[in-house]
Amino acid sequence: MYYSDEVVEEVRSGSDIVDVIGTYIKLQKKGSNYMGLCPFHGEKTPSFSVSGSRQMYHCFGCGVGGNVFTFLMEYENFSFPEAIQHLADRAGIKLPEQEFTPEAKRKADRRMRLFDINKEAAKFYYVRMKKDPGQTAYGYFKKRGLSDETITKFGLGYSDKGGRELYGYLKSQGFDDDILKESGLFTFDEKRGVYDKFWNRAMFPIMDGNSKVIGFGGRVMGDGEPKYLNSPETPIFDKSRNLYALNYARQSRKSYFLLCEGYMDVISLHQAGFTNAVASLGTAFTGLQANLIARYVKEVYITYDSDGAGQKAALRAIPILRAAGISAKVINMKPYKDPDEFIKALGAEEYEKRIQSARNSFYFEIDVLKSEFDFSDPEQKTKFFRETAKKLLQFTEELERRTYTEAIAKEYQISFDMLNRLVNQYGSAEMPTEEKKDSYTERKKQKQESGLNTSQKLLLTWLTTEPALLGKVKGILTAEDFTDEFYYGAAKEVFEQYEKEGTVTPARILNRYETKEEQAKAAELFQTTLLGDLDEMQKAKAFAETVRKVKQSSIEMRMGRAAETGDLEAMQKAIAEQASLNTTLQKAGL
Ligand code: CTP
Ligand code: MN
Repeated sequence: MYYSDEVVEEVRSGSDIVDVIGTYIKLQKKGSNYMGLCPFHGEKTPSFSVSGSRQMYHCFGCGVGGNVFTFLMEYENFSFPEAIQHLADRAGIKLPEQEFTPEAKRKADRRMRLFDINKEAAKFYYVRMKKDPGQTAYGYFKKRGLSDETITKFGLGYSDKGGRELYGYLKSQGFDDDILKESGLFTFDEKRGVYDKFWNRAMFPIMDGNSKVIGFGGRVMGDGEPKYLNSPETPIFDKSRNLYALNYARQSRKSYFLLCEGYMDVISLHQAGFTNAVASLGTAFTGLQANLIARYVKEVYITYDSDGAGQKAALRAIPILRAAGISAKVINMKPYKDPDEFIKALGAEEYEKRIQSARNSFYFEIDVLKSEFDFSDPEQKTKFFRETAKKLLQFTEELERRTYTEAIAKEYQISFDMLNRLVNQYGSAEMPTEEKKDSYTERKKQKQESGLNTSQKLLLTWLTTEPALLGKVKGILTAEDFTDEFYYGAAKEVFEQYEKEGTVTPARILNRYETKEEQAKAAELFQTTLLGDLDEMQKAKAFAETVRKVKQSSIEMRMGRAAETGDLEAMQKAIAEQASLNTTLQKAGL
């Protein structure tokens, strides 16, 4: 079901966000906003803010945010059309019957159609699994111990042998080649024509946090290479920022997630009652995934394969999780290979015990380190303690470092004084270690980048709070000057609205964001209150400085890029802009 932008906007503007949210939580007027206890994280003092003028909400505690649609999707777990339906009913707006005309289709945005394609494909694969020859896949799932309920919950399916079945089906559903090409589900070959990318495979639909299918993993039937084939990245499928089964895990109400290596592991765990299991999508675990997890829980139990590869992957994931503020533990499943095998052999209760006895990630790192040294050799044993001492330095708080040093000394039978002295020796060493240098330059770089992002964000908030300022920067700033991809998208929308209508409606801009993460980010952007204490003069000065900073780094970035690609024309243009920047800003009174 697709609603046109006009319909979406009519429903949104006809549903006052303060009224709607007010029916769910108690709101109190505070200044120009309303405050209440955030329904999305536990808290005792209100940090959930709802703005009537901007028609948005934002929680200063957990960072959620959005417009009236987002709220219902998040709170009621509605899909987007359901949220529209609900609000339309409430406001007495009659929705158009069905907008499946070719005209409406063309207007529908690309992403929406890609979601439709993936959904249709998942349904198709599911249905085919129940027919011949899909029965082989069904039998395979059964053999692996999955119940019908589990198969349905994860929407498992089968891709046919012929290699064109899905293509034929989707064509009959009215999707054209252009968009099918973009879906990543087909191979377009000049000579041979169009083929389904997945054939004769057991299919695992991959869903985003809102249970929308965004891609697939397909497992070969029997042996064969590659064992798993995954959808390529598409506009709606970003492997680095989605997690398998997150849509279920986020509702599990546990205080931690179980992080697995494979789809089958996740599915087995869910079937055994561990509905907080997730996995990355056939690629290594990323920082974006860690941030995604951090929105729901602050603790992760890693349950990767017990083999060397799994151990290595765990060692890589630990610091990534740590950087996102998540503490990690590692589950030992020996003598079994993975959670799937473990549960089959010993059952859920034993697995629960392994969760309880999971090793804190630091001990795990030291355990792995130890396995690399032969303790019967004094030289190697010494080396081990040196390495351990260096690792202990990652605890910057003295108390914590001391506690760990004590514990390690005890476990590995070395005197505390000895180990502690070693730690201090490395800690005060004049020469920074390579690692330290790296992380220093890395931090510095990140700081500069985030400083720039902050300016872009501040400027956008400013321009939407006081749209008159948009007139002032006309001819100086364009959306392209927002070099951060996300802010660029938002800026583009802001400038366009102002150009067309002479004003800006932030809540409407939110309609264009698909994922909750994006909506929250955008809501934060438009909800932040600015510089309350400054007088007019100070404000004008701060504004001028922010414009200059954003413009300046945009010019620099274009120069850099032009130099890299050897684009002389772009270089000259950037140089000219740089030369006239001062006068341009002065003329505009900035
Ligand atoms: N994987 C992949 N490509 C491969 C092998 C694995 O993308 N050629 C990914 C898949 O996401 C898989 C995960 O890595 O789920 C873990 O791999 P493996 O341990 O081999 O998968 P299992 O879940 O154990 O597979 P199965 O039990 O079906 O044999
Ligand atoms: Mn496995």
